[in-house]
Amino acid sequence: MNSKGIFITFEGPEGCGKTTQIKLFTKYLKKMGLKFLLTREPGGTKISEKIRNILLDPKNKEMSPITEAYLYAASRAQHTREKIIPALREGKIVISDRYLDSSIIYQGVGRNIGIERVLDINKTAINGLFPDISYVLLIPPKIGLKRARNVSSKSGYKDGDRLEQENMEFHKKIYSGFMKLPEIRKGVFILDGNRDIKKISHEIIGIFEKKYGF
Ligand code: TYD
Repeated sequence: MNSKGIFITFEGPEGCGKTTQIKLFTKYLKKMGLKFLLTREPGGTKISEKIRNILLDPKNKEMSPITEAYLYAASRAQHTREKIIPALREGKIVISDRYLDSSIIYQGVGRNIGIERVLDINKTAINGLFPDISYVLLIPPKIGLKRARNVSSKSGYKDGDRLEQENMEFHKKIYSGFMKLPEIRKGVFILDGNRDIKKISHEIIGIFEKKYGF
């Protein structure tokens, strides 16, 4: 399916530094003259961004875990078909800020739905499209949440979005869930996000170059 392009995702708990690392990685791709598309989940298309608003609104407290899982999958179904797959067919490198692994960990582990059930819910949504490389930046919940809440308050949700507002126990589950992700899927690279920004970026580029021979 992603025959010509390369599909790369960045994952991790709240405030893990994905945004910074994505910026550095795309800067590198530009320097190398490689064509890429940068996108995010939940969101990435007009319809998916509308679903994002429902998912992240702290007022939607009554949302059941299963509804949450289906909404993330619905947003993804539109995103893969409208944006990711066409770009991969054009031979682009697609970089997504979160994708399937966030559902595996947040809904599967965090909400206790179960990993198998989340994979099942997402099967039709992703239509066989698994990332070629997934970078997981790990940062302890206490440090990450502090960072994330600062960003969220700037973007509209005063006390953080609906998921950030979850308790510490939930965020600890997310952290240890991500740590075990390589046991679930191939192509997952765990990186210590609590280090010098440039060192992490160097490691990310190194993994990419080793796999694709640049
Ligand atoms: P966002 O503001 O994009 O956060 P971040 O900067 O941490 O990526 O919000 C996305 C939130 O949605 C984040 O808390 C993780 C969560 N999420 C899921 O629970 N399941 C999913 O499948 C995805 C894609 C995200």
